[in-house]
Amino acid sequence: MSDGGVALDFPMFGDPVPIEPDAGTLRLLARRRSSSAQGLGEPGPSAEQLETLLRLAVRVPDHGKLAPWRFVIMPKASKASLLEALGRIAEGQPEPDTARAKLAKLAAAPVSILVVSRIDPGSKIPVWEQELSAGAVCMTLLIAAQAMGFGANWITDWYAYAPEGQKLLGLGEHERVAGFIHIGTPAEAPLERPRPDPEAITTYWAG
Ligand SMILES: Cc1cc2nc3c(=O)[nH]c(=O)nc-3n(C[C@H](O)[C@H](O)[C@H](O)COP(=O)(O)O)c2cc1C
Repeated sequence: MSDGGVALDFPMFGDPVPIEPDAGTLRLLARRRSSSAQGLGEPGPSAEQLETLLRLAVRVPDHGKLAPWRFVIMPKASKASLLEALGRIAEGQPEPDTARAKLAKLAAAPVSILVVSRIDPGSKIPVWEQELSAGAVCMTLLIAAQAMGFGANWITDWYAYAPEGQKLLGLGEHERVAGFIHIGTPAEAPLERPRPDPEAITTYWAG
């Protein structure tokens, strides 16, 4: 299995998976940055790279092995009728101009991956944990996309929450948008943003 450049050694079920340091991952995490969704252009990931991204994403922690998520792949060419329909729905939103303008984020990216959280309400695994797992899927996609050299951004926007938007996106009962992961090549390198100081939000357990 390869992402088009790097051979990836996906383990088979039951294989030993030794824990090893990886300086490259640490370097990437130290500099990981979302790219402006509107500024994403070609090239986007190839079909092979997309397949690799999904294989990496489903490796997230998942209490109860419920796989409480699914993907909808949206190549740019497939988005036209969705964007048109969302444009009509935007007119009924509290701030139609803003709602319409936000569609640029969905329109620009060569590929958007819609990550749908699909919880099992009857499971003994708490819903919160099922939803957290969908967040982990989104985060893994962001990291993996950047590791392949792409810009990416995790966006929800109003149509993830508007009932008409959810219907258009084909969400079923117990399903919610965890995020659109927009992926492509950034028009320009993003600038670093302010980051929280870990010390300010960290205490040591008194014991
Ligand atoms: C669940 C979730 C939903 C988000 N939805 C939006 C959104 O709708 N619009 C937006 O501008 N940013 C949204 N963001 C924030 C972007 O991902 C933002 O660009 C990112 O936090 C930038 O910081 P980074 O460089 O640390 O990734 C969302 C983030 C998360 C975690």
